[in-house]
Amino acid sequence: MSMKTSPQLIRLQSVDSTNEEAFRLHAAETAAPFFVTAAEQMQGRGRSGRTWQSPVGNLYLSCLLENPASSEKLSQLGFVAGVALIDALVATAHSKCFHLKWPNDVIVDGAKLAGLLLETRQQNNAQAVVIGWGVNISQTPKDLPYRAIGLHEISSSLDKEQLCQQLMSAFMQRLLQWDEGRNFNAIRQLWLQFALPPGTPLMVRGSETEKFEGVFESIDADGSLLLKTPFETRRIIAGDVILPGVA
Ligand code: BTN
Repeated sequence: MSMKTSPQLIRLQSVDSTNEEAFRLHAAETAAPFFVTAAEQMQGRGRSGRTWQSPVGNLYLSCLLENPASSEKLSQLGFVAGVALIDALVATAHSKCFHLKWPNDVIVDGAKLAGLLLETRQQNNAQAVVIGWGVNISQTPKDLPYRAIGLHEISSSLDKEQLCQQLMSAFMQRLLQWDEGRNFNAIRQLWLQFALPPGTPLMVRGSETEKFEGVFESIDADGSLLLKTPFETRRIIAGDVILPGVA
């Protein structure tokens, strides 16, 4: 992957999804890496096929990378992106109230502040990877099956532009540190520093039929969730994690 220190930021007013727009721009030969942001999204995408409410006032930012690592290491990028988001939030909001919930939600007081979505496509003879961050800033999404929160409820430092700039530069720095997966352990350690405390009750939905209840133990060397149940420690590679009673 070629790495420019400050990739360009493409700013848009309204798009379907900044992730989708990033793939389109790459297909139209925009040189990677680059970032795309929009004031609002009409079809913002969340994890597991869900919609991401995207009114004007919150941050929607995507980064397109070309051939960032071998395919078995791509999921590590979610952790790189999660750690960079924490870096940017701490720097912008001057607060350390942020926690990471596996795989990469940002939680404040049990409510979801931000999420990220990693998508990959084979196009232009390359592996195109898009990481998209959604951060609730001045708008708190309503009618969700979990509790959401906006940065305006936490901090009076609310500069969306500053958060966007901090996130772009933190992500480029953490990418260099990650070193295409050769140094995932450093990212994992940082991720664990901001993780929900071990012992936090979690409910995990692995698939339609699989559901496990337990408490957060850690993440392993590959980034899989280690969930402690009354009987064993389960290793979860993919799934949705719910904070029972809250998120
Ligand atoms: C989640 O479900 O937690 C992931 C949410 C990711 C939302 C962001 S907003 C910018 C980018 N564009 C999208 O359509 N989705 C991501």
